[in-house]
Amino acid sequence: MITKKKELIVTSALPYANGPLHIGHLLEHIQTDIWVRSQRILGNHCIYLCASDAHGTPIMMKAEEENISPEKLVDKYMKAHKKTLESFQVSHDCYYQTHSEENKKYSELIYNTALENGYIKKQNIKQLYDEDKKLFLADRYVQGNCPKCNAPDQYGDNCDVCGAKYEATELINPLSIFSKKPPVIKDSEHLFFSLTKLEAEIKKWIDESSLQESVINKLQEWFKDGLMDWDISRDAPYFGFKIPGFEDKFFYVWLDAPIGYIGTLEKFLKDSNNKASAKDLWSEDSKYEIYHFIGKDILNFHALFWPALLHAAEFKKPSNVFVHGFLTLNGNKMSKSKGNFLLADQYSKELDSDYLRYYLASKLTNKIDDIDFDLKDFQKKVNTDLVGKFINIASRVQKFLKTNGNKLGSDLEENLIDEFKKEAKLIFQDYVNLDYSNACKRIMKLADSANQYIDHNQPWVLAKEEINEKEVIKISSTGMNLFRILNICLEPIIPETAFKIKNYLNLTEDNFEHITVSVKNHEIQSFKPLIERIEDDKIDNLIEASKSG
Ligand code: 2FM
Ligand code: ZN
Repeated sequence: MITKKKELIVTSALPYANGPLHIGHLLEHIQTDIWVRSQRILGNHCIYLCASDAHGTPIMMKAEEENISPEKLVDKYMKAHKKTLESFQVSHDCYYQTHSEENKKYSELIYNTALENGYIKKQNIKQLYDEDKKLFLADRYVQGNCPKCNAPDQYGDNCDVCGAKYEATELINPLSIFSKKPPVIKDSEHLFFSLTKLEAEIKKWIDESSLQESVINKLQEWFKDGLMDWDISRDAPYFGFKIPGFEDKFFYVWLDAPIGYIGTLEKFLKDSNNKASAKDLWSEDSKYEIYHFIGKDILNFHALFWPALLHAAEFKKPSNVFVHGFLTLNGNKMSKSKGNFLLADQYSKELDSDYLRYYLASKLTNKIDDIDFDLKDFQKKVNTDLVGKFINIASRVQKFLKTNGNKLGSDLEENLIDEFKKEAKLIFQDYVNLDYSNACKRIMKLADSANQYIDHNQPWVLAKEEINEKEVIKISSTGMNLFRILNICLEPIIPETAFKIKNYLNLTEDNFEHITVSVKNHEIQSFKPLIERIEDDKIDNLIEASKSG
């Protein structure tokens, strides 16, 4: 049966362009990339997009601190992010930034359409203002005593001590973190997106999108508390796009950030000389399915504001939003100041990306629980599974093929191979369902079966007598076929190693359909080490690096 190929647009959340990526970012990009690679192997067409998130006050401040323009700062981190993600084999079709002409065009288009359709309104708000710095203060830039429990040094949105939520203007004895002086309260006209008008539309979208159960629960809590209209403007000075029709008002970074997905698609289409525009692929009747991967902390932006905004602007809403939990390190929250933090590039100095990809995959399910990167457990898991079980299959049988000129025979244990082929389908189903942990379990169970098959048939004993030559070649060729199926199954997780193995096997296959045909009468290369064990010193170095932050 020929199933129709799907057309997919897939995104990972856009990292802020004000610092290097850490291993928490990698969890998401690796999760997305495994999904994208498995979809591609299944024959579906994926456009995988990401970009650096360029706007907002923190980026403006960081540029000031570094004494460069925000544009320069963003370019610098965009290049760094791109390089880091490539080194982890994350297979974007385009990696861009939100401070781009394409994103400006779509931000204006989406805003103007929402305005024409009656979803934008003006409202005066009172905000804290630092007269020295000449800046309206976002919640994180003001500290004072909690209006409820009087705890000192609390930020402008909620209290760390008693958990109270409040407006920054309610803080007792507030101080600007810039001038260290009390801010004044100043009036300003802001633009609001009428989220409340779109409640029914958002609910309809939620019903139609098969979101994860815990995500639906969270959304229902928000509906119970009641939605509020969303402030989408910020006053100058601000690094962002100017709002059409205003001199000194800018889009709030969270307005143009998700639109950056569309801007990046436009850039991708231009770069690949495609005549279509991003609007064509993102139109309400587009055949493209759109999937966003995000962390649980930005769910409101992606599952409330974003579908509502797309509806207001007559664009297609996401087909689904996939949400993951946070990454903890050695059992604790990652924190630079507490000496428990690891940058992506610090990891790369010590080890190849496939190890981390495998470890994270073995822990990822479609739940939004946090995942722990436990360095000792990581070493044990990789050494046991990838080296001890998977690679071991090839290294045990390869020596018996040497006498046959490294050539696989035509006689194979087809029943066993068929079992592997059947299970491979379920493994790819697990990938599609985001249950990578279960996929890893299935793969390792098959690796155990392959090793048991070799144990049971003892080719090393049979090889002592020339008369058994055919049988020995059959066992070894079967072993190599099982190894090759597992390699296809592992490819979405460990692409670099899988590529090396395909080279070793003299195969170029990259599509699931190939799995249906066994490899016979086929010469492979001389055996070479395909993956190394993780030694203790590497883990010690990573532990040291994580302490330095
Ligand atoms: O939370 C963050 O890191 C944001 N920069 C994510 C943006 S995702 C998208 F909406 F652009
Ligand atoms: Zn309090």
